Amino acid sequence: MTEIEWWEYDDAAELADAVAGDIQFVIESAIDARGSAVIALAGGKTPLPAYEKLAKAKLDWKRVTIIPGDERIVPLGDPLSNVTALGKIFIPKGARVMPIVPKATDDYKAAGRSADALMQDLHWPLDLCLLGVGGDGHTASIFPGPDYDEALNGPKERRAVGVMPDPLPPEAPVARVTLTRQGIVTARALMIAVSGAAKRKVIEDAIKEGAGSPYPIGRVLSDAELPVDIHWAA
Ligand code: 6PG
Repeated sequence: MTEIEWWEYDDAAELADAVAGDIQFVIESAIDARGSAVIALAGGKTPLPAYEKLAKAKLDWKRVTIIPGDERIVPLGDPLSNVTALGKIFIPKGARVMPIVPKATDDYKAAGRSADALMQDLHWPLDLCLLGVGGDGHTASIFPGPDYDEALNGPKERRAVGVMPDPLPPEAPVARVTLTRQGIVTARALMIAVSGAAKRKVIEDAIKEGAGSPYPIGRVLSDAELPVDIHWAA
């Protein structure tokens, strides 16, 4: 059973401070231990204030590689692109913000294969994977439904796959590339940043249901190899 630790905050500002501080600690520990840090950061809106705070941290950013934990298959620079949002925050710091989809394509399976190839060159396991959770229990871009078996149960050496959510999520109605469950749960540090009562209930139910959960976050966490920190703001 995965060991889960809940960290609760009164508001988004406290959540941002805590998440930024924890990510900084993980990066510093990775650099001390291995000379570099590779971290996967969630897309979406919740963690952005934490990223803004993290970017101000005094870190040896040249030793840090940042990848989006998932990406929408759109041209770089598109407002829907997670790496574009991250790059706006971190490029001045010298961190390497690495696109996982080098160019937009209609062939999401091919995009998943190219992301997987790109990621193989990174040192694994990730030092950190920060996840968000959607109201439907999706995490990264692993959405509910039978079509995400490869993302959840694919070959263990697969780090990323392309997915075509059905239905397409309203906030980003495009095909995506996502870290696989294997790429997520093997991270040396696994953190979730989420807010609101509804998502808290989704996560609590998902954890109770575990591997059989209809919520991808439950199926992902069911075999996390290390304790998971969940940072939650009311
Ligand atoms: C994405 C995200 C996604 C996100 C959740 C929560 O690219 O869409 O990675 O998994 O983390 O949808 O998003 P919010 O934090 O905006 O609610």
